[in-house]
Amino acid sequence: MGDEGVALVELAGVSKAYGGVRAVRAVDFTVRAGEVHALLGENGAGKSTLMKVLSGEVAAEQGTIRIAGEAVRFARPADAQRAGVAMIHQELDLVPALSVAENVFLGREPHARGVLDRRRMVAETRQLLARTGVGFDAATPVELLRTGERQLVTIAKALSLDARILIMDEPTSALSPHEVTRLFAVIDQLRRDGVAVVYISHRMEEIGRVADRATVLRNGEVVAEFDARELTAAQAAEAMVGRPVHLMFHAETRATVTEDVLEVADLVVRPRAGRREPAGISLRVGAGEIVGVAGLLGSGRTELLETLYGAGPKGARSGTVRLRGKDFRPRSPRAALRAGVAYVPEDRRVSGLALEHSVLANTVLSIVDKLTRFGLVPAARERGKARETAGRLGVKLTSLADPVGALSGGNQQKVVLGRALLTEPALLLLDEPTRGVDVGAKAEIYRILGEIARTGVGVLLASSEPAELVGVCDRVVVLRGGRSVHELDTALAGEAELLAASMGDVR
Ligand SMILES: Nc1ncnc2c1ncn2[C@@H]1O[C@H](COP(=O)(O)OP(=O)(O)OP(=O)(O)O)[C@@H](O)[C@H]1O
Ligand SMILES: [Mg+2]
Repeated sequence: MGDEGVALVELAGVSKAYGGVRAVRAVDFTVRAGEVHALLGENGAGKSTLMKVLSGEVAAEQGTIRIAGEAVRFARPADAQRAGVAMIHQELDLVPALSVAENVFLGREPHARGVLDRRRMVAETRQLLARTGVGFDAATPVELLRTGERQLVTIAKALSLDARILIMDEPTSALSPHEVTRLFAVIDQLRRDGVAVVYISHRMEEIGRVADRATVLRNGEVVAEFDARELTAAQAAEAMVGRPVHLMFHAETRATVTEDVLEVADLVVRPRAGRREPAGISLRVGAGEIVGVAGLLGSGRTELLETLYGAGPKGARSGTVRLRGKDFRPRSPRAALRAGVAYVPEDRRVSGLALEHSVLANTVLSIVDKLTRFGLVPAARERGKARETAGRLGVKLTSLADPVGALSGGNQQKVVLGRALLTEPALLLLDEPTRGVDVGAKAEIYRILGEIARTGVGVLLASSEPAELVGVCDRVVVLRGGRSVHELDTALAGEAELLAASMGDVR
């Protein structure tokens, strides 16, 4: 059980502002050796900023850091790493063109007699991957991996540093329940080894399972501390938001389907090298229906949505897709958008947002064509639409002119969703739409999805959270190895059945 009770990390009076935004204010925060300490808070509460101070990426204006009782100053991440601090970032910071092994050892590649020891690098990476139960190889280029797989790579990378303080900023946001279980086993081992773990997550059900203590931030300040084992989701949410929150969501009225918006039959996409692609997917989405897509990593969820959005692999494809009764083969996202299909991608960094551009520009990007009058986009209309969307989704920002990159992770996700809604689609494709979104905003997004469906839009929702699929969807289609293998009616089946079907254990 390590040195239990000893404060390995002590942050005292830490403050950090970005321009006029006070992201973190006078925060005291301690983590003991052998403790998993959850850090909770709404989107923009200051969690990532506080942890970037501890990992040497952001310089605090005020406050002190002590590691094992000794005052330290971190001018850069390398300083923190030397002191034993490693951080798994919320936004995955991998180099796509490099292999998994190269990413894991980036900047500290092993050498033997002056030359790069590639063999050792690959061998050690394989061991690390085995620890997290990963199914892909160390030599795979990261660009061929899906978001959840990339998340596992960043975890392996942090583990390889042998840190005594490990910060995990939303490590499970793209993982399915099966992968989460494996990660928790790794975390339990770290705890036994006496590592201090800071665990940030918006998945409330994880906190009691994995954490010992929980600290809640609100508007940059510590507002509560709990024994994590006894903390209920409702208590946590109330501390985060500052008032009681209704966490329950359920489709109030079930859709009475009059026509199909989308019909997919035996959809097969030509495989890209080394990857499995959807093979034999059949499903339908009626007008006003929310249909879920479930499945483990690599089951074909994302490939399916990308294909429907004209962003899938080019080339031969078999099977049929019909949109509002007509044959549908979009050649590009632009063509799909014009046909009435909107898409919220899984990884907002890769395909979602232009981070250096303003919230305004990112929000209205999708509807510039529609807003244009006589070749000009009226600025007032543009601002009006963007402000309305940001307000509706509760995006926390100072100005629409802020670059999207300055928003917290969850708030970036809301911008992506808002932009898709603005196109007024007939079919809305969502891949992990609440990834990194806080509890209050999640409930709001579910409410909005219900509202949109009631206007006759068909919604196809891919998610790795069984509770979300069962709570929000009318039906859930389960994919395995690129095939649709099962369909559940959520009025009759629950999370347990869904999990069993995803794992291939259908009774
Ligand atoms: N690089 C930056 N430039 C300007 N403002 C920033 C920057 N990074 C964060 N902020 C602001 O600081 C505040 C805290 O952001 P932070 O990313 O720490 O929130 P968070 O608690 O991690 O939220 P989330 O759950 O959405 O990840 C927010 O208001 C955010 O807009
Ligand atoms: Mg964050």
